[in-house]
Amino acid sequence: MATTTKHLSFSSFLLLISLISHAFADSGSIGINYGRIANDLPSPQKVVELLKSQGIDRVKLYDTDSSVLTALSNSNISVIIALPNELLSSAAADQSFTDAWVHANLSKYLPDTKIEAVAVGNEVFVDPNNTTRFLVPAIKNLHASLQKLGLDSSVKLSSPIALSSLQSSYPPSSGSFKPDLVEPVLKPLLQFLTQTGSYLMINAYPFFAYTANSDQISLDYALFRSNPGSVDSGNGLKYDNLLDAQLDAVFAAMKAVGYDDLKVVVTETGWPSKGDENEVGASEENAASYNGNLVKRVLTGSGTPLKPQDPLDVFLFALFNENQKTGPTSERNYGLFYPNEEKVYDIPLTVAEVNNENSTAPSNGSKAQVPTSGDGGEVSTTAGTGETWCVANAGAGEEKLQAALDYACGEGGADCRPIQEGATCYDPDSIVAHASYAFNSYYQKKARGAGTCDFGGAAYVVTQSPSTYFITPP
Ligand SMILES: *[C@@H]1O[C@H](CO)[C@@H](O)[C@H](O)[C@H]1NC(C)=O
Ligand SMILES: *[C@@H]1O[C@H](CO)[C@@H](O)[C@H](O)[C@H]1NC(C)=O
Ligand SMILES: *[C@@H]1O[C@H](CO)[C@@H](O)[C@H](O)[C@H]1NC(C)=O
Ligand SMILES: *[C@@H]1O[C@H](CO)[C@@H](O)[C@H](O)[C@H]1NC(C)=O
Ligand SMILES: *[C@@H]1O[C@H](CO)[C@@H](O)[C@H](O)[C@H]1NC(C)=O
Ligand SMILES: *[C@@H]1O[C@H](CO)[C@@H](O)[C@H](O)[C@H]1NC(C)=O
Repeated sequence: MATTTKHLSFSSFLLLISLISHAFADSGSIGINYGRIANDLPSPQKVVELLKSQGIDRVKLYDTDSSVLTALSNSNISVIIALPNELLSSAAADQSFTDAWVHANLSKYLPDTKIEAVAVGNEVFVDPNNTTRFLVPAIKNLHASLQKLGLDSSVKLSSPIALSSLQSSYPPSSGSFKPDLVEPVLKPLLQFLTQTGSYLMINAYPFFAYTANSDQISLDYALFRSNPGSVDSGNGLKYDNLLDAQLDAVFAAMKAVGYDDLKVVVTETGWPSKGDENEVGASEENAASYNGNLVKRVLTGSGTPLKPQDPLDVFLFALFNENQKTGPTSERNYGLFYPNEEKVYDIPLTVAEVNNENSTAPSNGSKAQVPTSGDGGEVSTTAGTGETWCVANAGAGEEKLQAALDYACGEGGADCRPIQEGATCYDPDSIVAHASYAFNSYYQKKARGAGTCDFGGAAYVVTQSPSTYFITPP
């Protein structure tokens, strides 16, 4: 990159930058959880420098520590603060408590510290002290306190829920919430989030599902690596990674209780670099694959199969290994960084880094095949090389897909011979499969340029080879 830019004039450099930022204008965002259950972490001031040096501009905290919030002032880093579970009952009981809390722990840091949201409690439904009944009253009191200060539209309120809030998550289309949570807390919570233009915060760990069912779940599927994927028999959508499947199960569960349009933010996800002997899959290589491939996927812009047009906002867990966390070894090894600020493993964290990575030539047939390694434990050296494909958005509807297909194969100049009747890629004979073939042909032909995989919303970019409708670039 350096050798290339050296020869560019300043204005073409600016043009390049603006093209790059346009190409990713609709992409998701990557933030990071700054947990501090440790006795060996750098000072908050140093941590802010570290975040800046890594290009991280969103951070989530588990409290409202004043040294941290002060260090973050004027950093232009957006912050999600937290009201801990232990304060939920007080916050629920009395609005004068939330008035004082907002004053002491939130408003006094504004606007120098960019507080974008409050996580009210954390995984409240699995809190051993059972604080569930306090959640919605606490949120409502906080909202009233924010309203008094005119902060209710700029500071969002939500509450991170664990994936264990789901009764069913497989296949994703069958996703549903645990019935005993629906009436008492989920419906009122989702209604509040809808009314206030907020979003559901969800903590999702494919690692937990994998480590508990490693005989049934493919590691490649969990780590966003090339794999056959699976088709959801309920909605016909294809899933090539576990996180997408988990998130679509959440969307299905919300829809089942009448909340179809609410946005979701992944407030925690991660993979441990070390674990106990029985924690299958915990390793540095796997953590690097999971987090690295996730970042690339998020920053290249597509949402989940059910909501491809809604980019994902994800907070990685976590910034540091935290040596005072209890529980299995994995708990102390989710960090991207050691306390001395050295990287546990090297992954891209920004669009620029994703683009700069060594990328191989666009994949041809042989590359897109499912890897042959049977044990799943081997790290593919080609994982996440920045390759992208263009696929049809099944949700766009037949009419739109057909029009886009006609364009791609006609004026667009895509090579559509292989999808003609009798030709090699005619099967599967569906408009989605044919459109995917044609869109990808066009996209690769245009060198995967900005805006060449859109077709008015009928197509989107994926970072994993879509192997049902097997795609060979021209
Ligand atoms: C601050 O961050 C926002 C995006 O979060 C960006 O648009 C803006 O340019 C940044 N401002 C500065 C001074 O860096
Ligand atoms: C501010 O937050 C801290 C930590 O959560 C809490 O102990 C304290 O009571 C809060 N202040 C007020 C005035 O509520
Ligand atoms: C549960 O509540 C008690 C009393 O408020 C408190 O001492 C204890 O720390 C809480 N435990 C957890 C896990 O929050
Ligand atoms: C937690 O509290 C709710 C309502 O207060 C109750 O319905 C539920 O059974 C409790 N759960 C546990 C595990 O105690
Ligand atoms: C590409 O990878 C090679 C070998 O890993 C490395 O030496 C080289 O610096 C990389 N190039 C870029 C532009 O990152
Ligand atoms: C894939 O591309 C490589 C390099 O261009 C070529 O040698 C190989 O034959 C191609 N494989 C297929 C299946 O087209």
